[in-house]
Amino acid sequence: MVKVLFVCLGNICRSPLAEAIFNQKVKESSLTMKFKSDSCGTSDYHIGELPDERTLQCAADKGLEINHRGRQINRVDVREFDYLIAMDKSNKINIERLIDSSGLRHEQVYLLREFQPHPDNIEVPDPYYGGIEAFENVYNILDESITHFLEFLKEEHKVYV
Ligand code: 4NP
Repeated sequence: MVKVLFVCLGNICRSPLAEAIFNQKVKESSLTMKFKSDSCGTSDYHIGELPDERTLQCAADKGLEINHRGRQINRVDVREFDYLIAMDKSNKINIERLIDSSGLRHEQVYLLREFQPHPDNIEVPDPYYGGIEAFENVYNILDESITHFLEFLKEEHKVYV
C-alpha cells in the first residue's frame, strides 16, 4: 500500500479536500488496495475539529465524501507515509523542520503543484480568509494537480490499469 499524506496549515480547508479528492479518484480507478491518503496540518489550531463549513459545502457540491477531524503532523507520520505533499512553501518548510528535528530522513516531500502541468503559481493558495470562490479555486487546482499526481504514482509504482 502506498500512503500519501496531504499537509496544509490548519487541516480544515485545503488538505482535507485534497484527501477527499485523492481518495475519490483512487476509488473510481479501483485502486483502493494500492493507494490511500490522509491529511493533517502543521499547526495545532484546529485539532479535533470538522473541516471548515466552506470546505464541506464545496465537497458536497462535488459529491465528495469528507470524513475527517483536524490533526497535527507528527514524527510517526514521517515514518508511516511514503509521500508528504505540502500545499504551500511554508507547509513544506515546516515538514522539513519536523523531519530534521526528529533526526529522520524522508525522500518524498513535494509541493502538490509540482505535479500540475502548467501551474500559474507553485502554491495552493490559503482560502481561509476568502469567500466560497476561493474554495472553488482551490478545488479546481487540487482536482487537476491530483489527477496528475495519481498518474505519477501509477507510473512510479508500476500500476497499470
Ligand atoms: P488550511 O487553511 O491550512 O487550508 O486548513 C487555514 C485554516 C485555518 C487557519 C489558516 C489557514 N487559521 O489561521 O486558523
